[in-house]
Amino acid sequence: MPDTIPSRILTGITTSGTPHLGNYVGAIRPAIAASRQPGVESFYFLADYHALVKVQDPARVQRSTLEIAAAWLACGLEPESVWFYRQSDVPEIPELTWLLTCIAGKGLLNRAHAYKAAVDRNRNEGEDDDAGINAGLFLYPVLMAADILLFNANKVPVGRDQVQHIEMARDFAQRFNHLYGEAARTEYFVLPEAVIEEQVATLPGLDGRKMSKSYDNTIALFAPRAELKKQILSIVTDSRLPGEPKDTEGSALFQIYQAFASADEAAAMRAAYAEGIGWGDAKQRLFERIDSEVAPLRDRYESLIAHPQRIEAQLRDGAQRLRERYAIPRLRALRDAVGLRDLSSAPASARAEAPLDNGKSALIALATFKQYREADGKFYFKLVDGERVLLQSAGFDSPKDAGARVARLKAGAFDVDDTTVSIGAGVEVQEVVSALAAIAAEAAAK
Ligand code: TRP
Repeated sequence: MPDTIPSRILTGITTSGTPHLGNYVGAIRPAIAASRQPGVESFYFLADYHALVKVQDPARVQRSTLEIAAAWLACGLEPESVWFYRQSDVPEIPELTWLLTCIAGKGLLNRAHAYKAAVDRNRNEGEDDDAGINAGLFLYPVLMAADILLFNANKVPVGRDQVQHIEMARDFAQRFNHLYGEAARTEYFVLPEAVIEEQVATLPGLDGRKMSKSYDNTIALFAPRAELKKQILSIVTDSRLPGEPKDTEGSALFQIYQAFASADEAAAMRAAYAEGIGWGDAKQRLFERIDSEVAPLRDRYESLIAHPQRIEAQLRDGAQRLRERYAIPRLRALRDAVGLRDLSSAPASARAEAPLDNGKSALIALATFKQYREADGKFYFKLVDGERVLLQSAGFDSPKDAGARVARLKAGAFDVDDTTVSIGAGVEVQEVVSALAAIAAEAAAK
């Protein structure tokens, strides 16, 4: 079917730290596996604008961006088959952020968890509610919504702590569609859904709590071999001696092992625990298991990090192609939607109707759909207004498919991202929208 929409998976990685094993197991590894599935279009980006909310050390922002980009590439992300880019290379993202800021409810933003937590901390310390809180923290969910909505992503894999942000993005999308889309009979934004990977383990850190930069309990993903070993030896265990049976339940060491091991390997480790393996030996096994997976990635990582100009070129290339393909035309349509328009173009309401001398109005000759078959045997249609081609379809296998698509367009279902139709050269999106609205109005009046 020509008009099935592939799923668009999008996720951002804040560039504020050094990649650790928890990021690898919880985000990088599953995301790269997902990006290889057929029928998905994946968007992975370095959320460096988001990093600025928390990190005001420029060297750290730069270093983290390099390390995270190198880590994803070293782990097998293929920039030829997924969109891989840096947020700050796509100026349409902050531009859309402003359009969304102007429809976002302030009351909704007041309830965002991260902002509320910062306010609560201030209250507990007897400070002014907003002491030390920058407006970036407050607007963080709007920037994140722009990341997602600009590309009409329908699936957003995130941790549980981010689910509220996706709900906010849906709220902004709905408000925008309602405010600007109804008259134009256009759904500007697809409503995104959070995808929470239930099977993906959250990895415990050195002290047994969730591995996280904020607990300072992480194991770096690409530490040199000797350093990796040292870190693994410092995982907290209980005081049982070699020969004493040990519990896998509640053992951080076992959980980390499991995240890297096959089912058979995990079963063997479980048996070793029951037989009283010493903690030193268990740590050695864990180290060897992790190192065997990570060593080839580490080699690639090191050679990538040694050539930052190559990563820079790859990121720029990704952003440039992405802008041309999606961001620039999308933003053009969205600017038009809110009224940031060419002053010499007729306002939308005047385009479908022309005043008559008697003070009444009549519809201008309506644009019409023409269906036809080409030499390639496929079925096509176009929407024409006199000599001008407003829309041109791709080839459909059957006249029924083409006809169904025309019917949906006549009913007002037009999406600028639709790959089954393209807008004619020199035609503004708003003209298409108005022409379709006029056709629908005419049909309704009959
Ligand atoms: N806020 C996300 C996090 O901290 C990172 C992020 C930024 C993101 N923009 C996004 C995630 C868009 C998904 C989609 O993890």
